Amino acid sequence: MAKLTVNDIDLKGKRVLTRVDYNVPMAEQDGAMVINDDTRIRATLPTLKLMIENGAKVILTAHLGRPKGKRVPSMSLRPVADKLAGLIGKPVAFCDQCVGQAAEDAAAKLEEGGLLLLENVRYHAEEEANDATFAQQLACDADVFVNDAFGAAHRAHASTAGVADVLNARAGQCVAGLLMERELQFLGDELKSPESPFVVILGGAKVSDKIKVIDRLLDKADTILIGGAMAYTFKLAKGLTVGKSLVERDKVTIARDALDKAAERNVQFLIPTDNIVAVPTEIDGKFAFGEHRTNDSENIPDDVEGVDIGPKSAARFCEVIAGAKTILWNGPMGIFEDARFAGGTFAVAKAVCEATANGAKSMIGGGDSVKALNKAGLGDQVTFMSTGGGASLEFLEGKELPGVAALTDK
Ligand code: 3PG
Repeated sequence: MAKLTVNDIDLKGKRVLTRVDYNVPMAEQDGAMVINDDTRIRATLPTLKLMIENGAKVILTAHLGRPKGKRVPSMSLRPVADKLAGLIGKPVAFCDQCVGQAAEDAAAKLEEGGLLLLENVRYHAEEEANDATFAQQLACDADVFVNDAFGAAHRAHASTAGVADVLNARAGQCVAGLLMERELQFLGDELKSPESPFVVILGGAKVSDKIKVIDRLLDKADTILIGGAMAYTFKLAKGLTVGKSLVERDKVTIARDALDKAAERNVQFLIPTDNIVAVPTEIDGKFAFGEHRTNDSENIPDDVEGVDIGPKSAARFCEVIAGAKTILWNGPMGIFEDARFAGGTFAVAKAVCEATANGAKSMIGGGDSVKALNKAGLGDQVTFMSTGGGASLEFLEGKELPGVAALTDK
């Protein structure tokens, strides 16, 4: 990797300001906030363990939710400190401030191998404004900056980019954590010249979210498989009917351009030839799906909405996936949160895992596809699952992420 990593530097006795992405889903239970999914916390453990073993004094900063510069109690990181302590098997000090005297005192108390988590940086509006004074305060105690927050690396905020500027100005080192290194390796280096056949599976709601990724990967992919609601915009581009399905009518032209480009470059571009469809309706004043069925046609009738790829499309997609040597998957095939419409997404998840067991490299681009894999109990059977949502998409588009750009070059 072109950037220094935590393996390249001396950590003994150093105060290491470490940005992590602990933006984890939480829900209130009996008056307390409970973490529903600790994947992002677990993902930082290798970096933290390495730093502890090497005698670093670890000061963790993170954001949770979007409190917009206000102290919102339900977005406190305190429950994360307890969770982390349980996972790592040692105490994690927590400071209910992230800057100022209290934070400085808590950092000063750290011993070699000690861990401190500071309160949500987004309680301060200066964080998202990438305010230089706030960055200076955050970095005041630090000898080194470690960024392990790939999921937040697309944000040019004080705790991701600003603190790196402060450290760089002091000739301090700014390095990638082990999670950041793996993310950049699998979503970056591994996809530079992927072993063929390279199959890209894209889903989710909007063509507009993924069009730049499609555009970039059309140069490398052998096959692109499209599911989710974005497939209906591609159907419109092919002159097919979509009934009441979710579409972006203003994106039909870019969808048509992508289809033309794929044809020019000999990239197989498959959209579903059959779908699960359902009748959108209202029950007790709330939106719901009524009766559902398989629509065994490329055209979707007027009275129904597409909610998943159909069984024939799932079988065809799985056949293509079985022959892949490299797989990138981002976005579900349908509304998998509803068990009635999860068949396509779970079939693809299973096929990706089987191909991986047969030697393919599989990279899962974060967000909903990771949720789907975990829901199917298959999360440990792929080569790599990204912890980034928006960050992984922007990175796959080929954008330089501010949190990465700020790190010290090798
Ligand atoms: C995420 O959950 O994708 C990251 O933590 C970034 O969060 P944000 O979209 O609120 O910046």
